[in-house]
Amino acid sequence: MLEIRDLTKAYGDHRVLLGVDLDVGAGEIVGLLGPNGAGKTTLISIAAGLRRPDRGSVRIAGRDAMRHRPLTARLIGLAPQDLGIYPTLTVRQNLMFFARLAGLGPSVARRQVDSTAEAFDLADRLNHRAETLSGGQKRRLHTAMAVIHRPKLVFLDEPTVGADVASRAGILDVVRQLAAEGAAVVYTTHYLTELEQLGAAIAVLHAGRIAVRAPLPEVIARFGAAGVALRFAGEVPHLPGWRVDGARLVPEETVADPVAAAAQALAALGARAGGLAGVEIVRPSLESAYLAITGQPGVAQTEEVVDALAA
Ligand SMILES: Nc1ncnc2c1ncn2[C@@H]1O[C@H](COP(=O)(O)OP(=O)(O)OP(=O)(O)O)[C@@H](O)[C@H]1O
Ligand SMILES: [Mg+2]
Repeated sequence: MLEIRDLTKAYGDHRVLLGVDLDVGAGEIVGLLGPNGAGKTTLISIAAGLRRPDRGSVRIAGRDAMRHRPLTARLIGLAPQDLGIYPTLTVRQNLMFFARLAGLGPSVARRQVDSTAEAFDLADRLNHRAETLSGGQKRRLHTAMAVIHRPKLVFLDEPTVGADVASRAGILDVVRQLAAEGAAVVYTTHYLTELEQLGAAIAVLHAGRIAVRAPLPEVIARFGAAGVALRFAGEVPHLPGWRVDGARLVPEETVADPVAAAAQALAALGARAGGLAGVEIVRPSLESAYLAITGQPGVAQTEEVVDALAA
């Protein structure tokens, strides 16, 4: 559904995208991850046709999106990161406006407004002005407007920001349903557990490129190294096989079982463990994998990740 090739984009001399390749198939949800400022919104804006890249191509349903704009635009649903609702219109008018804009006829549009409002738990707010909604309800309306025409390619840029637990679950349900109906979904979030709940594939945007693109279990298996650190108040004791990292002792090599490693280290330290202030255990998870891939502080061993990335 979506094929991005060698996309580059700079703002002035700030180079944000340095050659991004990304494919998303029909029925697939891809979780696009990356630190603040990595370029996720920039990438989505280009893929959805709102911004021009400096170089590279975007193909949608096999067509060059830049040459066949009106045709490909109809296949797309986009919920931008910034809220785009019309505050003085009612919820119904907001939804209707987008349904008609997407080319739906009046009766189909009315049906879609009702079913989409139902799916996003907004049915009882349809006749209220959007400005009277709570923050989470506004976010749901904003997302509903993006998918009102059941697009084949959906971009959701942090759709659950500000949503409460129930709203978030509702949004995830709709996303799963869209994918089940065959839509390709690109989903950005900083809440990694959402991607586990969605069963999403993972794409990590880091240093201007897609550093990793793989099914979630594979990302965890490859990069979600277990980790352990012993934190000390005062002087950090020396222990063979462990190195001092600030106020912490961390193993020189990755450990398979962090709890056993901590227990052995404490036994070996004996009385010298007296200044122990805490034990940090990191189990292999999407979070530890993500931190390792993006080289952010975590207990995970980054050298192994660098090797794996190079391989
Ligand atoms: N219109 C713009 N003009 C100049 N610089 C911009 C513009 N839009 C984004 N940038 C810069 O490009 C970089 C990437 O921004 P972008 O919004 O794509 O990141 P992001 O990955 O979506 O971040 P976040 O997780 O915070 O939403 C940032 O350094 C940002 O300051
Ligand atoms: Mg963004």
